[in-house]
Amino acid sequence: PVSLKLKDSSPHPDIDLEEGEDDRAPVITLPDEIEFLTDLTEYEQYMSPDAYEEYLILVNSSSPADSSLVPDDLTAVADTRADGRDAQQLRLCAAKALEALFIEMREAGFSDVSVMSGYRDYWTQDYLHNYYIEEEMAADPTLSWEAAKAIVLTYSSEAGTSEHQTGLCVDMHNLESADVSFADTEAFEWLRENAWKFGYILRYPENGTASTGISFEPWHWRFVGREAAYSITSAGITLEEYLSGEGE
Ligand code: DAL
Ligand code: ZN
Repeated sequence: PVSLKLKDSSPHPDIDLEEGEDDRAPVITLPDEIEFLTDLTEYEQYMSPDAYEEYLILVNSSSPADSSLVPDDLTAVADTRADGRDAQQLRLCAAKALEALFIEMREAGFSDVSVMSGYRDYWTQDYLHNYYIEEEMAADPTLSWEAAKAIVLTYSSEAGTSEHQTGLCVDMHNLESADVSFADTEAFEWLRENAWKFGYILRYPENGTASTGISFEPWHWRFVGREAAYSITSAGITLEEYLSGEGE
């Protein structure tokens, strides 16, 4: 094991996580050091970026992104699934931190997980969202377009409201296509325990639907930087809850 001493860090300073004020947002201080199986020293600058605020962007149905948003530091994701698809892309910091996560995950014995989807532009999301609406209507011809859309909105965001447009999240798993059964795998268990060390959170947890509006997605992981990832993971809250300063 390689121990990495962490820089002195406190919870996100803009969020007043005072102990006792709210059970869901306790003061959560990072451990002094993290033990990795591999030497990830060169990745530390990405897993725990100094400019952490850049990575705390919230995009959802009540906080849409501008349709013209295209990150200017998109980088190829090394662990894109090798099935002929284009290399997926993420913002540089998220891509490098994910590379570190994959190095460590392979060393831990999980070599079959790969990235299916990263950055998606506005129009790709628009196409996907509408494709799913048509699929729902084909599966149940009694559904109106509006009813089909309401179903789709629990698993596919409307263009402009998907955080895939930020280049800060990935869909990754070891199945043929994304499915909640990924949650039953040991690889998922490993991610659930370890992703925060690399700055990643499970963005749509089982118990987060009321706050995110999105059903459980064990394959969707979001980069927020290690400090926020640790607070969110340990407190068992969603990014929405974290950024709304629950506990203030
Ligand atoms: N599947 C997620 C919610 C998206 O479409 O962005
Ligand atoms: Zn996703």
